[in-house]
Amino acid sequence: MAAVLLLVVALVAVGSGRGDAFDPNPLQDFCVADTTSKVRVNGVSCKDPAAVVPGDFFFAGVDKPGGTISKHYAFSALPVQIPGLNTLGQSHVRVDVPPGGIFPPHYHPRASETAVVLEGSVYFGFLSSYPDNRLFDKVLRKGDVFAVPQGLVHFLYNNGTEPAALYATLSSQNPGLVLLADTLFAGALPDDLLAKTLRSGNDNHIVEIIRRKFGRP
Ligand SMILES: *[C@@H]1O[C@H](CO)[C@@H](O)[C@H](O)[C@H]1NC(C)=O
Repeated sequence: MAAVLLLVVALVAVGSGRGDAFDPNPLQDFCVADTTSKVRVNGVSCKDPAAVVPGDFFFAGVDKPGGTISKHYAFSALPVQIPGLNTLGQSHVRVDVPPGGIFPPHYHPRASETAVVLEGSVYFGFLSSYPDNRLFDKVLRKGDVFAVPQGLVHFLYNNGTEPAALYATLSSQNPGLVLLADTLFAGALPDDLLAKTLRSGNDNHIVEIIRRKFGRP
């Protein structure tokens, strides 16, 4: 009896864990984002369906680089903003990495990812979780598609001579982005804790050197 109860509890725990890791299923054909609404829902509230137009499911311009450029890592990211994708559990982005540029090791807590290489070539990889930390890497070329399992650390490095462009699709409306080095060194963790984390005992020296590069006093 106790064993059965435990099994039920375990199954419910597994089930709800999975549920939490994915965006909820929509309850209507579409919920085009109404960015003017002050009403907060799980996502952006929906525009009146009668006012929805084809342009709500459209975005132009991913044939060219754009968006925000990272001054430290040189990649740029152009979010594909399609209001009609609101609540549908996905997001898209064009990413450009110039020669010598990187998209540093990072993960998305709420999404798996696939990306197609539009132009150029790029060294890509992801790492499995602790304790294996196994590297799955490949040099990708135009037309190649790669996949990153949810929550795993991955990176891009353009170690070639041509600009590289990718189009990525993520399995959440709000995938989240954790840049490992920024989280550790630009965040507010105490220096002595970081030194111990880096297996440097009571020597804060390395931490101070790295922290300065991340703009921390
Ligand atoms: C980029 O780095 C990867 C991994 O070290 C290597 O296999 C590849 O040949 C490099 N590409 C160039 C153009 O050097």
